[in-house]
Amino acid sequence: MSVAPRSGDLKVTVPEILARKSSSQESSFLTRRKITCLTAYDYPSARLVDQAGVDLILVGDSVGMAVLGYDSTLPVTLEDMLHHVRAVRRGTKRALLVADMPYGSYHVSIEDSLRNAVRLVKEGGAEAVKVEGGERRIELIARLAEAEIPVMGHVGLTPQSIHAMGGFHVQGKSVEASRQIERDARAAESAGAFAVVLESIPRELAARVTERLRIPTIGIGAGPDCDGQILVYHDLLGLTFGRVPKFARQYADLSEIINHAVTTYCEDVRGGAFPSDGESYHSPGTIPLESPARSSR
Ligand code: KIV
Repeated sequence: MSVAPRSGDLKVTVPEILARKSSSQESSFLTRRKITCLTAYDYPSARLVDQAGVDLILVGDSVGMAVLGYDSTLPVTLEDMLHHVRAVRRGTKRALLVADMPYGSYHVSIEDSLRNAVRLVKEGGAEAVKVEGGERRIELIARLAEAEIPVMGHVGLTPQSIHAMGGFHVQGKSVEASRQIERDARAAESAGAFAVVLESIPRELAARVTERLRIPTIGIGAGPDCDGQILVYHDLLGLTFGRVPKFARQYADLSEIINHAVTTYCEDVRGGAFPSDGESYHSPGTIPLESPARSSR
């Protein structure tokens, strides 16, 4: 299988993502080239997503819920992330590869956070990292940028704040909350972030933030006016167990396809239809098979 990206051959870089902001402002709504982003967590998903021409692949800490079976992103460790980022790196040729910094990896001290981000770049092969939070991450984002590590911000619903927020709820619904989200997005931008994720906020707020920022906004549950969109791979493909948020459009039902394939396989094994003679190897006619009675075992 060869890697042949469908939408342009050029490697997507941080400057290319930044440039999409100005092109989206200069052109009309219909001709804007929106930034396409998707999560991936392993080699096959990375290859498929990259080959399909997605601009940015995020190894999200959503790996904890989508792949590892946790009920939040909080248990995911830096070692977990490194393991998945390396696999995605091997499968990614064209897309910009961004790694999430997991909970606890940037909450202790700036030095510790820098060391952890450097590991994601050096050992994982990430080209950028993502951190949740706006105003309270100003110093961290600036220090990461100073250390040549491009940063994506993430404001609105920040899943690592699940306990503080009291669950996965839409954010920014009051005037004060919406102003705070705008301040957070501006803070990420002024600290040096090259893009910011807006998660689960009203469409109108996302549109305002998008209009006021110089860096691209990437929406998830933030309406169509952002500069780009991101979804979780498993949500898009119908591989998520349990509740899926209303913004997560399911483009395929792979659970159904997998279930059908696996039950058919089981039926075929039980009924003797698999494997067939054509799916079996055969002894060369000239080599006599040892009879079981004379076997040395
Ligand atoms: O972890 C993740 O997948 C994310 C995206 C949903 C933005 O943070």
